[in-house]
Amino acid sequence: MYSRHFSLREAPFSITPDSAFFFPHEGAQAALNMLLVALRSGEGFLKIVGEVGCGKTVLCRQLLKTLQGECVTAYIPNPDMGPDDLLMALTHELGVDVAPPVSRHKVFNALRDCLLKHAEAGRHVVVCIDEAQAIPLRTVESLRLLSNLETEKKKLLQLVLLGQPELDEKLSRPEIRQLLQRITFSEYLGPMMAHRVPAYLAHRLATAALSDVTDTRVFEADAAQSIARFSGGVPRLVNVLAHKCLMLAYGENEHRVKVRHVRMAASETPGVRAPVPWWVSSWLGWKGVWRSTRPGATKAAVKQFQDEHPGGSR
Ligand SMILES: Nc1ncnc2c1ncn2[C@@H]1O[C@H](COP(=O)(O)OP(=O)(O)OP(=O)(O)O)[C@@H](O)[C@H]1O
Ligand SMILES: [Mg+2]
Repeated sequence: MYSRHFSLREAPFSITPDSAFFFPHEGAQAALNMLLVALRSGEGFLKIVGEVGCGKTVLCRQLLKTLQGECVTAYIPNPDMGPDDLLMALTHELGVDVAPPVSRHKVFNALRDCLLKHAEAGRHVVVCIDEAQAIPLRTVESLRLLSNLETEKKKLLQLVLLGQPELDEKLSRPEIRQLLQRITFSEYLGPMMAHRVPAYLAHRLATAALSDVTDTRVFEADAAQSIARFSGGVPRLVNVLAHKCLMLAYGENEHRVKVRHVRMAASETPGVRAPVPWWVSSWLGWKGVWRSTRPGATKAAVKQFQDEHPGGSR
């Protein structure tokens, strides 16, 4: 909608986890480094736990991109399935054919043969399981069996689990603690530090830029800081706020995002934090100052602008 207005090729703040936009803030870079070092040194089981919207999926995609050509990789985006389905999903991802009639035993053997072949050729096989907090307990057990596949010297399969904090709760259950013991490295992925948010915004704008002359300083310094405070540094919330701010600025035919745009965007975004102590915001709310923007203000502002500028900048 506002792409042409800001000289952009595509939407810079989409909430799809596109690795082309990956920004290596400290936490994300540390997690990626840990994964790369551990996988390259043959570690079997690794884990990334992170809060909602902090970038686990985009990190996973960046990892898979980095390992391209170096390892055989498989990606299971949604492991909420029974043990047989998980084995089938793995065989499918690794390009293994199992002739019908299919049985668990047959699938397991086919998988083992495929992994042995890769091991003989000196190729690491890395399987990334996203949303790992959703793996049913009985399926976790078949992961443990897979982790038993090894030669005398090394694992046949390296497994990366990525999930929300409930994953840790699940792994601490007594019936699956054997799996927990196999996890040799893990990292926590939290929100970005506030001082990295301005660079994050500029990075995403530069990635979506139409050309070198596109201005990536669209967010005024205090507006970027305000986004950092409202979002708590959670990248998904940063994206949601930034996108609304661009809509609002576009709606006013402005080329700069200001603090007032951030306030308006925040007022209609669930889950953002007030950047002032609670007692100040409740007092302001009581006085009718805080969150005074009516719901849907972003869309209304854009519509008004488009009505006033038919055929104008889209
Ligand atoms: N390091 C990063 N660089 C660039 N964009 C990021 C980064 N981290 C997160 N994002 C962006 O934030 C949004 C949320 O990221 P993502 O979907 O990866 O989070 P998640 O932790 O997998 O969330 P969930 O817990 O809901 O699965 C996406 O648009 C993603 O592109
Ligand atoms: Mg995710």
